[in-house]
Amino acid sequence: MPQPRIPVSRPHQWGNELPYVTKALQENWISSAGEYLDRFERSFADFCGVRYGIACANGTVACHLAFAAAEIGPGDEVICPDFTMMAPVFALLYLGAKPVFVDADEHSWTVDVEKIEAAITPRTKAILAVHIYGHPCDMAAIAEIARRRNLTVLEDAAEAHGATVRGRRAGSFGIAAAFSFYANKIITTGEGGMVVTDDDTTAARLRSLRNLCLGRSNETRFVHDGVGFQYRMTNLQAAIGVAQMEHAEEAVAAKIAIARWYEEELRGIRGITLPPTRDWAQNVYWVFGVLVEDDFGLSRVELQRRLDSLGVETRTFFYPTHQQSMFEGKANAQFPVSRRLWERGLYVPSYIGMDRATVARVAEAIRTVQKAASA
Ligand SMILES: Cc1ncc(COP(=O)(O)O)c(C=O)c1O
Repeated sequence: MPQPRIPVSRPHQWGNELPYVTKALQENWISSAGEYLDRFERSFADFCGVRYGIACANGTVACHLAFAAAEIGPGDEVICPDFTMMAPVFALLYLGAKPVFVDADEHSWTVDVEKIEAAITPRTKAILAVHIYGHPCDMAAIAEIARRRNLTVLEDAAEAHGATVRGRRAGSFGIAAAFSFYANKIITTGEGGMVVTDDDTTAARLRSLRNLCLGRSNETRFVHDGVGFQYRMTNLQAAIGVAQMEHAEEAVAAKIAIARWYEEELRGIRGITLPPTRDWAQNVYWVFGVLVEDDFGLSRVELQRRLDSLGVETRTFFYPTHQQSMFEGKANAQFPVSRRLWERGLYVPSYIGMDRATVARVAEAIRTVQKAASA
């Protein structure tokens, strides 16, 4: 009998998702107010170690809200990693800001903090830290540069629920941090997002911006004190979120356990470089990415094709941002690490609920492909 395909990712339901969504439906709290929204915002903010959570429709709009609340606007330059998912970059463009790209650090795949200073100009307003694939950025170094140069720190922690820097959680460092709860995230609501912050004024601004900058009293019901967005989350999504948060620590531990299994299984395969982790970081391995080096014997695209034929799904890494069509569209020698990650990177299945035998099956498939290539 053929073995089932191994998906790169799939959402995990812990058990209370269905009863909570059912309860929300039965009680008819199906829109953007309700008990689950309050509970989800509270529990996720607690998980991050900050005071406020502002739930919204997805991670992309969480970035838009966070950056708007930090008053990023037309002409402002924002330091951004070149190796990133594009959503936070688009959010800067929505606001008329200019992302200024900095290469990745090969020891964490997050922004290279040594290269940030050189990218700062008199127009620079903020540094955007994107915690890549579950590895947090070097927030101590970023905070120090920001303090010295009088810049705002923003975080995109969409891929790093629960990651820590010296014990402190991703999402608790910037003036605001964006999260995604898309189906492949460690905590999911299907689609969904949240901005977390420890700052009272930013929290109030975020709540207002999320809801069209509407007044909150009867007299101000249709009085808008700015140009706002309609980025609300529903109580139905939040019901899923509350069920997920009951197992948040378990979800993070499951991802780390899968990474440890992969490290044991893949170590020793010629030409496979394992993901790096800095000693000050707890990587939560949102995805488990490897680099396929020349001595593997096949390109990563060919490895991907052959793994697919063996029933193992994989994904290639992010395309260097500076090369995207809306920017230069061509390679630039200033970004060797981000380029190398794109050329060599592949991530393998790692979903909550994946067992050790399945991890071993993926490793065996990689060994089989290599053996066949060198035969
Ligand atoms: C770093 C990062 N930021 C933002 C997002 C956008 O989140 P969403 O897909 O919920 O809009 C993602 C999505 O994967 C992401 O990886």
